[in-house]
Amino acid sequence: MNNRSDRPSWKALDQHYSESKDIHLNDLFENDPERFSKFSIEAAGLFLDYSKNHLSAETLDFLAVLANESCLKERIADLFAGKKLNNTENRAVLHTALRNFSEQPVYVDGQDVMPAIMSVQHRMRALVESVHLGGWRGFSGKRITDIVNIGIGGSDLGPRMVVSALSRQAVQEVDVHFVSNVDGEELSQRLSKLSPETTLFVVVSKTFTTLETMTNARSAKKWLLAGYSDNAAIANHFVAVSANLKAVKAFGINPDNSFEIWDWVGGRFSLWSAVGLSIALAVGMDSFERLLKGAYLMDEHFSQSPLLENMPVILALVGIWNRNFQKASSVAVLPYDHRLSRFPAYLQQCDMESNGKSVDREGHPITVETSPVIWGEVGTNGQHAFYQSLHQGTQPVPADFIVALKSDCNLKEHHKLLVANCFAQSEALMKGKTAEEVCIELKKRGLNEREISRLVGHETFDGNRPSNTILMDRLTPEALGALIALYEHKISVQGIIWDINSFDQWGVELGKQLANVIVEEIDGGLPGRHDSSTHGLLTRYHLVQK
Ligand code: F6P
Repeated sequence: MNNRSDRPSWKALDQHYSESKDIHLNDLFENDPERFSKFSIEAAGLFLDYSKNHLSAETLDFLAVLANESCLKERIADLFAGKKLNNTENRAVLHTALRNFSEQPVYVDGQDVMPAIMSVQHRMRALVESVHLGGWRGFSGKRITDIVNIGIGGSDLGPRMVVSALSRQAVQEVDVHFVSNVDGEELSQRLSKLSPETTLFVVVSKTFTTLETMTNARSAKKWLLAGYSDNAAIANHFVAVSANLKAVKAFGINPDNSFEIWDWVGGRFSLWSAVGLSIALAVGMDSFERLLKGAYLMDEHFSQSPLLENMPVILALVGIWNRNFQKASSVAVLPYDHRLSRFPAYLQQCDMESNGKSVDREGHPITVETSPVIWGEVGTNGQHAFYQSLHQGTQPVPADFIVALKSDCNLKEHHKLLVANCFAQSEALMKGKTAEEVCIELKKRGLNEREISRLVGHETFDGNRPSNTILMDRLTPEALGALIALYEHKISVQGIIWDINSFDQWGVELGKQLANVIVEEIDGGLPGRHDSSTHGLLTRYHLVQK
């Protein structure tokens, strides 16, 4: 049966939702003093409190039936076994092999991929240590002081997020920068602060054809050669990470300076591969391996734990409950850690590019909602921007709060305030404030009856708004690795339950094709055949160029 919503488990959940929807979260807590311990779980150094969601043990049982009907356990096993779950591109999905510390082989098409992974990791270590120790030098003999990662999407967002998150582990020897946008402003502003003699470019592109990356890489090459006027300089100042080593060579990068990734590494899941070279350059190979280790611990937990004792599965099922039955159309990701400021943007690609689909694995339209909009901002900044709407807007938005209990910063007083705000926000979203409570407060403030009746509606909060809280002791490389793997697996589980291919991204292709047509018309000076809006926009463009 293709139609998820026709399944008995889906119908049972629908029924359960209509029977339980009027119960306020406050009542769930009131009626069960053990609720926090019943609806929280610990794994791989992370703690997930999901008790502030509209669910009961019965809800989880219904969701487990849905998971079983979707053959979730078998599909998880298929994922780790290298089955070709990306069925539109006929590819395995094996980012887990990149952090496999089990010493067990992992096969794709009958071949163990582990030796190739180890060999690339070995070469990454050699490069990173050589740059840090000053063995690798610029063409004029100077030490490398700045690394520029040129890539976009999965070749940018993951590494950029991790480098920021692990800023406490950053080495002194180099600064790592990221350039992704085809808007020349980003590259030219970055280059204006750098010297060609001391800069190493890491060009990261799985395909090595991506317009933004290739345009930036070509401009970076010109900038370098304007400084040196000798093509031989490229060998000292460019390295590449790609699955398309032929194109890397054609670009002029020495094959000895190229790092391979494989078609079974999806772009948005690739930070664990050589795509993470800039991470390793920023924090050292040992810290990079600690990141992999943390992810591996989460993989072990995910592949081995029963469904309802499995953190990524729980996070996914709670998300399905909120998305498909509570009808929440977006999820706010709210890290209370400045170092995680890039985490919402990273997760946006990982989740929305994976699960923003409207056909099932066989290409038939699906009748249930898939990926919600993922968005967010670091904690207290968001409080002074959009939290008003989270608390009193007409659309309840489930939120994921993320916080480390111990600070790595010497301003300890700040951390207390940070944690207090994080905990207070999830409490406020859930508890709300009744009209009676507001009236008492307003009376205490000395307001008269007329003023009270005018203000009471404005100051009342319904509460009853769901959230998860993810805790870690400290934001270490291991904890970060586990956190990223947690969300990666959550996304895969949701894809399995929605019966979609989470590992392709056909939806990004049309815009790329049309841009190629329009760029030719821009070059040719005349708009071609378009709708009147696109034609009008192009005409205005041409007018301004004259
Ligand atoms: O935007 C689509 C996409 O293919 C992403 O999936 C990918 O992460 C990004 O472009 C970059 O691709 P590449 O690494 O091939 O340059």
